[in-house]
Amino acid sequence: MKSFYNAERVSENVWWVGAVDWHVRNFHGYLTGRGTTYNAFLVIDDKITLIDTVKSGFEAEMLERISTVVDPQKIDYIVSNHAEPDHSGALNEVIAAVKPEKVFASAMGAKTLKAYYGVDVEVVFGSLALGQGSLTFVDTKMLHWPDSMMSFYDRDAVLFAQDAFGMHLAGSKLWADEYDQSILDYEMGKYYANIINNYSVKVLALLDTLPSLNLDLKVIAPDHGPLYRKDFGRLLQMYRDLAEQKPQLRATVVYATMWHATEMLARALTDGIRSAGVEVNLIDLAVSERSEVMTSVAVSGIVAFGAPTMNNQVFPAMADVLTYVKGLKVQNKLGFAFGSCGWSGEGAKYIAAELEAMKIEQPFALIQSKYRPNRDELQKAFDTGVALAEMLKEKAVC
Ligand code: FEO
Repeated sequence: MKSFYNAERVSENVWWVGAVDWHVRNFHGYLTGRGTTYNAFLVIDDKITLIDTVKSGFEAEMLERISTVVDPQKIDYIVSNHAEPDHSGALNEVIAAVKPEKVFASAMGAKTLKAYYGVDVEVVFGSLALGQGSLTFVDTKMLHWPDSMMSFYDRDAVLFAQDAFGMHLAGSKLWADEYDQSILDYEMGKYYANIINNYSVKVLALLDTLPSLNLDLKVIAPDHGPLYRKDFGRLLQMYRDLAEQKPQLRATVVYATMWHATEMLARALTDGIRSAGVEVNLIDLAVSERSEVMTSVAVSGIVAFGAPTMNNQVFPAMADVLTYVKGLKVQNKLGFAFGSCGWSGEGAKYIAAELEAMKIEQPFALIQSKYRPNRDELQKAFDTGVALAEMLKEKAVC
């Protein structure tokens, strides 16, 4: 019977056998407007090896793709590069179908897979002989989980990079060079900002280490989105730029509002930044969510947050976003806090304290209006926008 799910050839001895999740729009809180893929790879060697699996529910698709190359029961090894459930959720079902001789993972991977699925996994490090070629394992602990590792198949020079270099992008093409570059740049930036940003030190260490491994790469195969077979220099430089987080000549103003007072300040501030010639993105949390905010914040040299006070607290949507941004450890930014209140005024103070906790420089004192900002307060917000923009121009890289 003809298969509806086919494997796609990556190299002479490696096949893509993953799944395309066209319709996922919420990936643990990250909005995935273009869906995603769960990439898994089949290595045909004396020991036939499956690299990673897929999210639970996609195992039938993966097994059908495998069966277009080889009987799944001929698979000898499964290697788990990363234990997060989008790559291991189908592990028990795949083990039941394949009955592999061994399943391998890093030391932390073995513990994690045991905890998630109760499976016994052999710890692997260094390299694993497959017959004609071998897998070399690159420790990428905390990039982005403690179990994370990459594996390199030397026979075809394919680097299985798990989440690194990935993006959430469903599509019918295997290779990055078959997609519009602007889509790739946006989705990679969004993925980096929301998944990898807080491990930027690890990324820089990896980028410094990779050349010394003399891998002579032919393919970089991440676990999400398209694969790379050319332009490695551009890809690695883009990752370095993202990891270095140098201040960009852009601004993001994020606000929540109840009766438009904070919105009025946000618009005045935005216009001030704009009038000074800095590109600015104004985000209303009533219609946008945290991953969109973080995507913009990551590439902005100015980040301003404004919210009202509600029941002696900051407006809840702002607390959500600040908690999220704080966890992702942004660097090299000018910050500003603002807001509005009727009487107690905790909202803007909370924002300023959170920015301070993130070690974001705040060159100007917060602005908080009572009930509705008057013309002087709006002028002050505009002037603060101008001043922030002028300061950024002195330090921005582009
Ligand atoms: Fe794609 Fe960290 O899982």
